[in-house]
Amino acid sequence: MPKVLFVCLGNICRSPLAEAIFDHQCQSKGLTGYSSDSAGTGAYHIGQQPDHRTIKVANDNHIPIDHRARKFEPEDCDEFDFIFAMDQSNFEDIISISGYRPKHLHLLREFDSNQKGSPADVPDPYYGGIDGFTNIYKIMSEAIDNFLTSQQAQKG
Ligand code: 4NP
Repeated sequence: MPKVLFVCLGNICRSPLAEAIFDHQCQSKGLTGYSSDSAGTGAYHIGQQPDHRTIKVANDNHIPIDHRARKFEPEDCDEFDFIFAMDQSNFEDIISISGYRPKHLHLLREFDSNQKGSPADVPDPYYGGIDGFTNIYKIMSEAIDNFLTSQQAQKG
């Protein structure tokens, strides 16, 4: 039963949306074996609901979303089979909080099909408008779709 954790900075914009997209895609693909969660490397928004713009984009795409922000903890490395950082800064903060570099830590955009060279960031949309949220929705949906396809291919 693979457990997947999505991690951003505040755990109110990108990672709760990634978690909601992941659950929705598992359901529509008929994949029952997965569970998911999300967390933030910062503590600013602990206990809060997702940002209203994240909720809007989820609603517009008929994706249920229900999460309260929490902080990433070192124990998450043992708890989860895959940890996806949204950007390079989250990736480095996860290593710093954990005290080592977990083997199962990835940048989500490793699964971006247009990727050339180093994986790109899922850009932080917090200080921008709704367009930034529509953009991250597309980026994350594609990467998650590719990840699930690669998982199914490995199973044979
Ligand atoms: P997130 O976005 O990391 O995608 O949840 C942010 C949310 C809050 C802040 C920064 C980024 N903040 O500075 O409070």
